[in-house]
Amino acid sequence: MARGNKLWGGRFEAKTAEAVEAFTASIEVDRRLYRHDIEGSIAHAKMLARQRIISSREARKIVRGLKAILREIESGRFPFSPVDEDIHMNIERRLTHKIGSAGGKLHTARSRNDQVALDMRLYLREELRAIIGALEDLKGELAQGAKRHLGVIMPGYTHLQKAQPVLFSHHLLAYVEMLQRDRERMSACLERVNVLPLGSGALAGTTFPIDRAYVAKLLGFAGISKNSIDAVSDRDFLLEFLSASAILFVHLSRLAEELILWSSQEFGFVELPDRYCTGSSMMPQKKNPDVAELVRGKTGRVFGHLHALLTIMKGLPLAYNRDLQEDKVPLFDTADTVKASLKMMRELVRRVKVKKQRMLAAARDGFMNATDLADYLAGRGVNFRAAHALAGRVVRLCLERRCRIEELSLGELKRFSPKIEKDVYRYLSVEAAVQRRRAAGGTALANVRRRLKELGV
Ligand code: ARG
Repeated sequence: MARGNKLWGGRFEAKTAEAVEAFTASIEVDRRLYRHDIEGSIAHAKMLARQRIISSREARKIVRGLKAILREIESGRFPFSPVDEDIHMNIERRLTHKIGSAGGKLHTARSRNDQVALDMRLYLREELRAIIGALEDLKGELAQGAKRHLGVIMPGYTHLQKAQPVLFSHHLLAYVEMLQRDRERMSACLERVNVLPLGSGALAGTTFPIDRAYVAKLLGFAGISKNSIDAVSDRDFLLEFLSASAILFVHLSRLAEELILWSSQEFGFVELPDRYCTGSSMMPQKKNPDVAELVRGKTGRVFGHLHALLTIMKGLPLAYNRDLQEDKVPLFDTADTVKASLKMMRELVRRVKVKKQRMLAAARDGFMNATDLADYLAGRGVNFRAAHALAGRVVRLCLERRCRIEELSLGELKRFSPKIEKDVYRYLSVEAAVQRRRAAGGTALANVRRRLKELGV
């Protein structure tokens, strides 16, 4: 079709500059909304006929035409054109080409402003459902891992220094808690996404006797927007999704980082599956955790997309502004990145090999039972501050001797405090240290078991 022949070209004398066409077109990005655009248009056409705004015959033609277009797009036969700016006008142009002037009636009582808001909501609703499913999968995989390795003890860290022994399962379940909150955030977002904006027109509403509730019902929306100005200018639902995704990536990047650290020779707590690692083009011995590194790295773009959209939205006057077209890249790329990363992390967690002897050995050194020695004395009437100082002096002696606390003889220990008895040795074992942390939320086996049960694994 000749340039200048725009769907909105009536009031123009000169045709759009070629460079402007290229600059403003979004078709290469928003073509992936085609299914949602067609679904929304079909519902709109049905409503128009039901309200006798167009005839049933016209509506049938429109619906048939739109379904044919759907097939064209899916089989790669659709003639996309940047001249028609975006997916909405590409489809409308094609519809009129196929069915004649009835196609021109589809846009009655509708603007691209409420149309694009609808498409974005339909798209994100679908993505959110998939993402919630993928989140559940990763959560389930972590919980399964926690169950499989019940009893494995590892060092727990603060400041990346050995702190206190914990169950490996308890550590994995920490991620389950994070992902559970992520899931709740995504679900809350879904509720706010699931509202129909169509029927708001360009910004002021429409003069036609439309039935918005009917369209909402056809499209499975829980309700309709209450203010037309807000409905066409609001992108809070995207900001919420991008925020929830950014927080999710805080969690994924921490898990990725731990897998990277743990799989290093220095830690040696886990071995990553060969099929999920890559080699070096130069160093023959290398096995690199690239998948985990990329999840960690992709966190950058997810954070960036949130920042981009916040900046796009800030200070925009009501209602629609073309700036809003820039919401698509952040949304699409975030959804793609979230889905792909959740899937990859699930595979890693499912296939990671846990080296429990290495973990246990690491848990036995590093004086992680120093707190327990202090607790032991505090339990025998020594005030905790004094007990803490005393245990510190014991650690210093062990550092000099290059031995563990439990390798000191009872006589040597008694020199620090006469309150120390023979039962201290059992008290100081990592197993006992873990077992004693029974207060709700602590690492004791019974707590971890109970949590696993609550999670249904
Ligand atoms: N491609 C546009 C977007 O994504 C569609 C809405 C255009 N509306 C307008 N008034 N130019 O935002």
